[in-house]
Amino acid sequence: MCGIIGIASNKPVSTNIINSLKKLEYRGYDSAGLATINENQINEKKCSGRVEYLEKILFKTPAMGNLGIGHVRWATHGVPNEANAHPHSSEIVSVVHNGIIENSKILKHELEKKGKIFKSQTDTEVITLLLTDELKIKTPLNAVHDTLIKLEGSFALGIIFKEYDDMIIGARRGSPLAVGYSKDENYIGSDSYALKSMTNKISYLDDGDICVLTKDKVEFYDLSKNKINKKVLTLSDDKNIADKGDYKNFMIKEIFEQPITAKNCINEYIDKSREDINFYNIPFDAKKINKIILIGCGTAYHSCLVAKYWFEEFTSIEVETDIASEFRYRKIRFNKNNLYIFVSQSGETADTSAALDLCKKNKVKTCSVVNVVESTIARNSDWVLPIHAGPEIGVASTKAFIGQMLLLYMFSLKMGYLRGDIEKEDYQKKISNLIKLPDILIECLKTEDKIQLVAKDFLNSKGSMFLGRGFSFPIALEGALKLKELSYLHAEGYPAGEMKHGPLALIENGLPVIVISPHDKYFHKTISNMQEVIARGGKILLITDSNDNVISENVRFTINLPYLEKSLSPFLSAMPLQLLAYHVALLKKRDIDKPRNLAKSVTVE
Ligand code: AGP
Repeated sequence: MCGIIGIASNKPVSTNIINSLKKLEYRGYDSAGLATINENQINEKKCSGRVEYLEKILFKTPAMGNLGIGHVRWATHGVPNEANAHPHSSEIVSVVHNGIIENSKILKHELEKKGKIFKSQTDTEVITLLLTDELKIKTPLNAVHDTLIKLEGSFALGIIFKEYDDMIIGARRGSPLAVGYSKDENYIGSDSYALKSMTNKISYLDDGDICVLTKDKVEFYDLSKNKINKKVLTLSDDKNIADKGDYKNFMIKEIFEQPITAKNCINEYIDKSREDINFYNIPFDAKKINKIILIGCGTAYHSCLVAKYWFEEFTSIEVETDIASEFRYRKIRFNKNNLYIFVSQSGETADTSAALDLCKKNKVKTCSVVNVVESTIARNSDWVLPIHAGPEIGVASTKAFIGQMLLLYMFSLKMGYLRGDIEKEDYQKKISNLIKLPDILIECLKTEDKIQLVAKDFLNSKGSMFLGRGFSFPIALEGALKLKELSYLHAEGYPAGEMKHGPLALIENGLPVIVISPHDKYFHKTISNMQEVIARGGKILLITDSNDNVISENVRFTINLPYLEKSLSPFLSAMPLQLLAYHVALLKKRDIDKPRNLAKSVTVE
C-alpha cells in the first residue's frame, strides 16, 4: 500500500507529482503529501484525505522547485491525519515511505532517549530522524546506506536533501520501486503506471538496491554500495488506461468491459482454427506434475478456489488452494513434482509475493497468473500467464477476476489434454463453448435493470447471505466479498449444504439470501437448501440458468441467465453479483472506486 513518486527535473515538478499521485491513489487514499526543494529550503505540503485536497492546498500556496517527492498513504502506524501524512521531514531531509518498519518502536525509543522529538505516530519518522543524524557526518548515499542497515521490515523509500537540490535517493526492500528515464528528467515511482504518462523507459530496483537520481543521470548501488547496472525496459503502449469515459466510475466501466477483456484474453490464447489452447514454452512436463497448489488473496484467492474445481474435473492431478498470508507461515512440505500457481491482479501483493519467494527458496516449480506483467510476482516466477485485462482501477476487482478465472480455466483444460486426462473431442467442445463466452457475458450484464430493483432490498437489511455449491460456492464467497467491500454491509458466503450446520440460525424474516444455482449436478440439492431458507423467512434472490417456474415459487426475485456449459457457469453468475454489489453501494452513496479502509494494491502484510 501507499504510493511513492519522485521527480528530478529542469522545470517545476509539483504539477506532475500531483498527476502521478492521482494515478497512485489506488494504492492508498487516506492522506497525501509532497515536498520540493526550492531556494535551499524543504517545502512540505500535506493533508488528510484525497489528492484533490492537496491540489487545492497547492493552488493557494504553490510548492516551487525542480525536484520533489510525493506520497499517497494507506495508514499502518497512526491515524490518517495531516501529521501522519508523508513526507516526514526534518530541517535537512524529507522522506516518503511505502511498507512497514517492524523495529520502529525500538528505534523510536532509542531516538527519544537521545532527546529527539517525534511529530507523528508513524514508523516512517524514525527514518527521517536517523538520516538527519547520519547526514551531519556522511554523504547522502552513505547516510542512507547506513540508516537502512538499522531498519527491519519492508520498504520503498524516496528521499530528498536540503543541501542537494538536484538529488533524489530511492531504496527498496520488499516493496516495489521503479525508476523512469526521460530527457532532462528522471523519476522514481511505486509502479510503472504512475510513470507511464511521463516515460515508457523503466528499470526496477531489486531488494537491497539503492538508486541516486538527478535530472541527467541515474546510478544504482547494491547492498554493499557497489555500482550496478539495471536493464532498461520499454513499457507496452496501453491506450485505454485510466479513462472512465461516460461511466460514473471505474468499477461500472470495468464491469461492462468484461465481455471485451474476455474476448482479448481468449484471442490471446486460443487458436480458433485448430480449436487448441496455445501456451508456449511450458517449462515443465504436464504428465510429471503430481499436485497443483493455487495461492492468492481476496478475490484472487476466490479464482483459485473456482480453479480447484476445474483442475479436479479436467485433470487427474491432486489440487490444493491456499491463502497466501497463511501459506507463507505454515510448515509446508515442498515437493519438486508440484506446481505452485500464484494468482494476483497487481502482482505486488506482499503476502502472495512472500509465498512465491518461499517457493523459490525451496526450488520448486512456480507459475504466476497476473494482470501487470512488469510486476514483482511476474518477474520472480518461473513462468508467467498474463490475463491481458488492461489496467483495473476500481479497488473492487471485477474484470481481473474474470481474467484470472479465464486463464485458470484454459490452463486446467490444457493440462488435462496434455496429460491425456480428457478426450480431444471434449477438449475441443469446451474450447468452442469458451469462444462463445464474451457474447454470453453481454447477455448476463443485461440483468442490470432487475438487479437495480433487487438492490433496494438491501438498503435496510442487517446483513445478507450468499449460497452456492460446487463451482458456485467460490462465486458465493466472491459475491459476499464484493458486497461488503463496496456497501459496508455484512455479507457471508457459504456452501449451501453447510447451512443446517450453524448459519441457518441467522435466517430471520426478510434477510436477503442470494442463491446461486445453475443447472448442474448440485441443482436440486441447492434448491432444497433454498427451500429451507424460505421456510424460515429468508428473502431469496435466485440466480439460475434454469427456466423451471416451479422452482421460482416463493422466490422474491429470480435472475435468469443464459445456459452455456456447466463448467463455465462461474463466469455467468459473477456478472449479476458484481452488479448487485455496485448498485447497493450506489444507493448507499458509497465511494465506489475507493471503498473506505482499503487499497488496490496490498503491499504490506
Ligand atoms: C477484491 O475486490 C479486492 N479488492 C482484494 O480482495 C484483492 O483481490 C486482493 O487484495 C488481492 O489483490 P491482487 O490480486 O492484486 O493480489
